[in-house]
Amino acid sequence: MKYVDPRPVELVTPRLVLRNFVMEDVARVAEIANDPRVADTVLSIAMPYEVSHAEEFWKKQDVWWREGKAFVFAIAKRGVEGSEGIVGFTGLHVRGADDSAELGYWLGHAYWNLGYATEAARAICEWGFATRGLHRIFAHHMANNPASGRVMEKLGMQHEGLLREHVKKGSEYRDVHVFGVLKRDWGLGIGH
Ligand SMILES: CC(C)(COP(=O)(O)OP(=O)(O)OC[C@H]1O[C@@H](n2cnc3c(N)ncnc32)[C@H](O)[C@@H]1OP(=O)(O)O)[C@@H](O)C(=O)NCCC(=O)NCCS
Repeated sequence: MKYVDPRPVELVTPRLVLRNFVMEDVARVAEIANDPRVADTVLSIAMPYEVSHAEEFWKKQDVWWREGKAFVFAIAKRGVEGSEGIVGFTGLHVRGADDSAELGYWLGHAYWNLGYATEAARAICEWGFATRGLHRIFAHHMANNPASGRVMEKLGMQHEGLLREHVKKGSEYRDVHVFGVLKRDWGLGIGH
């Protein structure tokens, strides 16, 4: 098992701080994730999303950090202390053999269309390329979620394809778009 130093990491952007998700945050996470508008386009968010689901998420991501499998950050507003500042989450799920990682993110509905997802995703991609030895970062979004596709475009990711009915959300098969960016392209200024 690869050991990754679990000491807290903070990534600061103009309006946000990406910080470790701590156990004290679980009630806040349930509060913003327990919303069909958020859950509809995220496979890992069930409805209803209870505090127990947020606790499970906290436990899993803690293990993932330690094993180097995924790096999950709470996205919080700068200057707002504690769980109240949390507006959403972003993470990189690592595929170690390929030096690649899948980018994910979600925000509470009250915080959409303010540029927060793009700001947070840009910071975590920068960190992933600069400090985690990543060669490629990719992301998926359901075809009924164009806002997420727009975030990927704004990051400078390339559209790489459409996976037909690739995921099942509830009883419905959904098409999924794939985007990706290579470190050498990011280094050319893409994403900034
Ligand atoms: C997808 C999501 C993360 C976007 O977060 P956000 O902070 O609103 O994203 P940003 O503000 O950085 O960018 C959103 C972009 O999408 C655009 N957009 C919003 N709704 C849109 C729509 N229906 N069709 C096309 N574009 C849309 C916005 O105009 C903006 O683009 P612009 O800056 O060019 O104007 C957020 O909507 C969310 O959390 N959704 C639920 C969970 C989810 O789907 N997560 C992603 C799974 S892949």
